[in-house]
Amino acid sequence: MEKNKVISVECISKFYPTEVGLMRIFKKARLIRALKSVSFNVYEEEVFGILGPNGAGKTTLIKILATLVLADTGKTTMFGYDVKQNPYDIKNKIGIITGDERGFYWRLTGRENLMFFGTLSNLSKTELKKKIPYLLDFVKLTKSKDIMFKEYSSGMKTRLQLARALLTKPEMLLLDEPTKSLDIEGKEKFKQLLKEPILGKKPTVILATHSLEEAEAVCDRFMILKKGEKVIEGDIEDIRNFLKLSNHITISFSARNTDDLKLIIKDIKNIKSLTSIEEKIIKNTADLNIRYKENPVDFLTTLIAFCKNVEGCEVLSLNVNSKDLKEIMHLILDIKKV
Ligand SMILES: Nc1ncnc2c1ncn2[C@@H]1O[C@H](COP(=O)(O)OP(=O)(O)OP(=O)(O)O)[C@@H](O)[C@H]1O
Ligand SMILES: [Mg+2]
Repeated sequence: MEKNKVISVECISKFYPTEVGLMRIFKKARLIRALKSVSFNVYEEEVFGILGPNGAGKTTLIKILATLVLADTGKTTMFGYDVKQNPYDIKNKIGIITGDERGFYWRLTGRENLMFFGTLSNLSKTELKKKIPYLLDFVKLTKSKDIMFKEYSSGMKTRLQLARALLTKPEMLLLDEPTKSLDIEGKEKFKQLLKEPILGKKPTVILATHSLEEAEAVCDRFMILKKGEKVIEGDIEDIRNFLKLSNHITISFSARNTDDLKLIIKDIKNIKSLTSIEEKIIKNTADLNIRYKENPVDFLTTLIAFCKNVEGCEVLSLNVNSKDLKEIMHLILDIKKV
């Protein structure tokens, strides 16, 4: 069954006025382009990443989706509502994490802060008494619930933001670099949290991040922005294909005779994801240089199984070079025009 489209962004652009140098004296504003003709769709329950380096336009896009900032041109529809005409219908359905902790009361405890914001959102006391312990447990803050917010570490503050965003059972979470101040363990925990169904339903998640590893770990699909323009949209496989990157293996193995070697090579050539193979057979040893486009674990498992199938075959060396994610990001961001 096809999933519902919950976000439709058509060709939006955003410019910010800034006053620099002499322009400040003459009170003339120069326009800085934050987004240029960006379009994309997001579907129900998807985890969709907005990826890009500093200044790419991620926060601006999150703010537009949160109805906090209006785009100058283009059209954005969320849950069927236009962000310009029906911002309140949209606000009721979203929860936001901005990485900005100023919204909390520093002298209230974590639990008291949640009570306060829950009451502001018109949730009843009975409902809050049930919901808050659940959310504190969900974000792993039960033990620290009675500590004042000002004494929370950055990671605890971020997790309390997530609990606050979830109070109203949002249909969509907008997360702007939520793991920025988390340590490695915190980042891992956060990734796990995003994968769990929350209060019985999985919200659609929009995650702005500059980490390709993070996007790959939690996002179903993502879009890469560079200087306000969309470079590419898809999953990691689409991106690899787009860049025509394939994984690379060199393997050397021996067998009882040349016929056995040829038998193994014939099987390997039939692997669907194989894109190219160079072979060198010397006596009873074969050296293969293979390129393929698939998950390295799946490919290697098949490859080794073929070798093991033939009695007397022995793998002498194996070298796997799959493009490092950072390298991919580098390649993508060096692309001038798509
Ligand atoms: N309020 C503002 N006034 C003027 N320019 C702004 C404003 N907000 C953002 N910009 C500019 O718009 C561009 C996009 O900024 P944005 O904050 O959306 O990027 P980002 O991808 O979130 O960056 P980062 O990774 O640093 O958070 C940048 O050039 C930035 O300087
Ligand atoms: Mg930002």
